[in-house]
Amino acid sequence: MESTMVLIKPDAVRRRLIGRIIERLEARGLTIRAMKMVRISRELAEKHYAEHASRAFYPKLVSFMTSGPIVAMAVSGPAAVTLVRKMIGATDPTESEPGSIRGEYSLDVTENLVHGSDSPESAASELALWFEQSDYVD
Ligand code: RTP
Ligand code: MG
Repeated sequence: MESTMVLIKPDAVRRRLIGRIIERLEARGLTIRAMKMVRISRELAEKHYAEHASRAFYPKLVSFMTSGPIVAMAVSGPAAVTLVRKMIGATDPTESEPGSIRGEYSLDVTENLVHGSDSPESAASELALWFEQSDYVD
């Protein structure tokens, strides 16, 4: 069993898509191990996306991620990292497949509703940033 970090981003919260996104994860058979709704600091947003610190879109991304509350979740299941990324869909809105969350509900490269860890290593470090280990490990 693998765990991954999922964030329902501020645009999805504003658009009242929390329920639909969680419903998809649970319907697929994934387990929500920990969950909290939080408005995050600039510092946490910067740390979460530190790998993108040198990119031109980083300031816009940090300001978007701090623009309203987020729902943060530890989600587990077989190959959860890969599975959740597939369910979220591609970053580029012209590439996100119909049927994926982004492919169904978003057309914007920044305001794209959901984050999912891109590797088991990223999942481990992101989960440690957002949760106590006892929140999501038996
Ligand atoms: P995420 O980390 O949120 O799951 O998204 P991702 O892996 O699909 O995409 P990534 O490359 O990690 O980018 C992180 C977030 O930055 C924003 N972004 N803006 N060209 C742009 O303006 C641009 N590229 C990326 C998006 O919010 C993306 O999800
Ligand atoms: Mg990413």
